[in-house]
Amino acid sequence: MIKIRIPATSANLGAGFDALGLALTYYNYVELEESDTIDISSTDSVQIPKDESNLIYISARDLFEVCGKRLNGLKIIQSNDIPMARGLGSSSACIVAGLVGANTLLGSPLTTDDLVDLAAQIEGHPDNTAPALLGGIVTAVFDGRKVQWVKQEVFTKLKFVAIIPDFELKTEKARACLPKEVSHRDAVYNLSRAALFSASLLTGKFENLRTAVDDKLHQPYRMELIPHCGEVFDIAYTHGAYGVYISGAGPTVMAIVDEKNEFFVGKMRFSLENAGLNGWRVEQFSIDNEGTTILD
Ligand code: HSE
Repeated sequence: MIKIRIPATSANLGAGFDALGLALTYYNYVELEESDTIDISSTDSVQIPKDESNLIYISARDLFEVCGKRLNGLKIIQSNDIPMARGLGSSSACIVAGLVGANTLLGSPLTTDDLVDLAAQIEGHPDNTAPALLGGIVTAVFDGRKVQWVKQEVFTKLKFVAIIPDFELKTEKARACLPKEVSHRDAVYNLSRAALFSASLLTGKFENLRTAVDDKLHQPYRMELIPHCGEVFDIAYTHGAYGVYISGAGPTVMAIVDEKNEFFVGKMRFSLENAGLNGWRVEQFSIDNEGTTILD
């Protein structure tokens, strides 16, 4: 069987809505091989679809179709560490696993660019799928068919601390609450900050990140769907985070923290508990620069 490791991702990074994302050292594992039937199982207790509605299967079948082949069945074994519907790229991880797995089964007929394009078409936007495939921080523009992208590896020792609530927020719901139109002023507010984010992250001007993660396009609306979100932001800033933002469509809150801020995680846990916010867990990651990897 082919064994694949796929990283979690954190999209938007505040102002870069649907355009910026990065990969984290937090992984799902998928094993797959061709079969005459659909045989899907998992190594954990996470509930996953075990029929043709499974996203890994759908993505693999799409790739076969693009390559003019027919997929009769697939044996898939999933290990799901990335929590579902929490803004950490669990669906993208499935899409990317299916595409990379199927491409490998066929002898790698499609290029990396092809995979980035296909993944974005299946997901609808590239800011989780592209970093899941490529690793690092990815800037991507998607016109509905093709993605123009740049991957940059990040060698800072920044910690990305995910503050993950115990409830799910489906991306469709988190997108449905957004306004159809925004003002010119708000558009400028966001584009300047999105550009500032990657430039500041990559050059080490971390003091800019608090300004860079602010946005007017999605976070103010999504905060309404995430109880205590504002309080979690305040606590993270009190303990010295450089920047705090809603990861992807939420509900996870991500804090960017200096490696020298040694006890950030402990302080967060203590303060959250003290504030009665017991449903939030705190996990520390770094940036993954490798992206999806086929393991031996
Ligand atoms: N950019 C997407 C959003 C990421 O914010 O809706 C979630 O898939």
